[in-house]
Amino acid sequence: MKKKIIIAFCVAVAAWAAGYVIVGNSSDIPEGSTSQKALYVLEEAGCVMCHSKNAKPPFYANFPIAGSLVKADMQMGLRSYDITDTVGAIKTGAKVSSTDLAKIEYAVDDGTMPPLRFKIVHWKSNISAAERKAVANWIVAERAKLNASSGISKDFSNEPVWPIPRSLGADAAKVKLGSILYHHTALSGDGTVSCATCHPLDKAGVDALQTSTGIRKQKGDINAPTVFNAAFNAKQFWDGREDTLEQQAGGPPMNPVEMDGVSWEKIAKRLEADSAFSAEFKKVYPDGFTQKNITDAIAAFERTLITPDSPFDRYLKGDKGALTQEELKGYELFKQANCAVCHSGENLGGQTFEYMGLRRDYFKDRGNVGKINDKGRYSHTKDERDMHKFKTPTLRNVALTAPYFHDGSTQSLRQAVEIMAKYQRGVSLSDAEIDYVVKFLESLTGEYNGKKLEVKK
Ligand code: HEC
Ligand code: HEC
Ligand code: HEC
Repeated sequence: MKKKIIIAFCVAVAAWAAGYVIVGNSSDIPEGSTSQKALYVLEEAGCVMCHSKNAKPPFYANFPIAGSLVKADMQMGLRSYDITDTVGAIKTGAKVSSTDLAKIEYAVDDGTMPPLRFKIVHWKSNISAAERKAVANWIVAERAKLNASSGISKDFSNEPVWPIPRSLGADAAKVKLGSILYHHTALSGDGTVSCATCHPLDKAGVDALQTSTGIRKQKGDINAPTVFNAAFNAKQFWDGREDTLEQQAGGPPMNPVEMDGVSWEKIAKRLEADSAFSAEFKKVYPDGFTQKNITDAIAAFERTLITPDSPFDRYLKGDKGALTQEELKGYELFKQANCAVCHSGENLGGQTFEYMGLRRDYFKDRGNVGKINDKGRYSHTKDERDMHKFKTPTLRNVALTAPYFHDGSTQSLRQAVEIMAKYQRGVSLSDAEIDYVVKFLESLTGEYNGKKLEVKK
């Protein structure tokens, strides 16, 4: 605290010395839509300046002390939270991600943002009660849009998490073909590997290995996430290199370590050899086994790999008895510890890329683990600021999907919770608190085809 006050003082003095003390009162919010009002506050309060990639630093960024402080803030700010997409979504009327809503709610409600030393120089950035209300109204309205078809009970409509729908609508013929392709080894070069090799559906969609074993026993460099509920991810893969399930499904067959299918022409030839299936396929896709048709069918099937009706979902839909007291307590702790700031929406994740080790250096403490790919989003964007940022994984069915994290380093769910609390939140939870959170996470195990998802031995 003392340090903060000293820093704040220095900033004020530096700005004053340069003859640029910025004064102004929190002005009234201009008339406009709920979202325009919220955007006005986010801009006035400096959120956009410190949390977006293309923001201009303030004029005093070139001054000695104040400049280096505000630059450091902007760098740290962007590492913690990137508001760029939200600003874009507000301007174009697109949907705002559940995670951004949870983050802004947390930062504005808590009063932790903007940072104190910034408020001292930028008096206007102090958020007034009316501004707080404008942001809260916007969050309520945006959440209502996102969870409209989730079946959530009115009592819970402003929760950061909501149920998954029972169905995403599907073309039954495509789904059936996709299911066969998903299990077909003809997608691999030597006819030994299918999607189900690494994402077996009777094992919660994961191979339970630290990193996957592909064709000719080759080892991959990253842990395989579950395919269940991947349909709800905003992007696919840990680094988000693909936008859709269709694009994603085009990856593994051409990957020399995973399936090494060599070319789509060769895959088509191998599939043609299965004449009964080939005839069925051409009824739906007259031009046969092209990459586009194969990945279209697989993606249609993946949209049925969803697990609704977990006890937690039933609770949110209004069945008050669906959760035990312990599970409920776990959910409260999950929110109090601000886990939902990243694990939000229907998938409790899958929406944004987050720095692993926000509060403490995860990679230094962990040490180097063999050939694990730790780069995260950087691999795709080549932007230094995306180094070690990973797509937040879903927490649906997480009790069944060990080992955890992109490096598959952690076998126990308790330990994964402990690591998250320490490295992402900078808090340590008591043994009893961890137990409650784990109980809550276990209540996220849902149903597939009407049966509780389980791992067959
Ligand atoms: C002067 C720059 C600055 C301004 C202005 C600012 N932030 Fe931040 N923000 C930071 C820094 C630095 C951090 C990381 C350190 C921390 O968490 O205290 C951060 C962290 C955050 C986090 C992540 C917190 C977490 O624990 O994961 C959120 C969310 C956030 N800010 C939202 C906002 C919002 C919303 C506003 C506007 C009301 C805002 N910030 C204004 C610099 C800023
Ligand atoms: C050799 C094992 C292996 C095979 C075979 C395989 N995958 Fe994967 N899958 C992985 C790994 C490892 C990742 C994570 C890779 C990354 O993020 O860079 C992954 C990621 C995914 C994801 C993204 C999930 C998320 O949360 O981002 C989906 C969806 C997926 N695979 C579906 C498929 C489909 C469909 C097939 C068949 C066409 C397939 N996989 C074949 C190992 C495999
Ligand atoms: C700042 C964003 C953020 C916060 C806050 C956060 N997480 Fe995470 N969580 C992530 C990311 C990113 C990963 C993946 C990290 C990796 O693989 O290196 C993850 C992974 C996990 C996993 C492992 C899932 C898997 O399948 O590998 C669990 C369990 C988890 N988080 C629970 C929690 C809990 C409980 C809290 C609160 C104490 C929490 N998280 C807070 C971003 C966050």
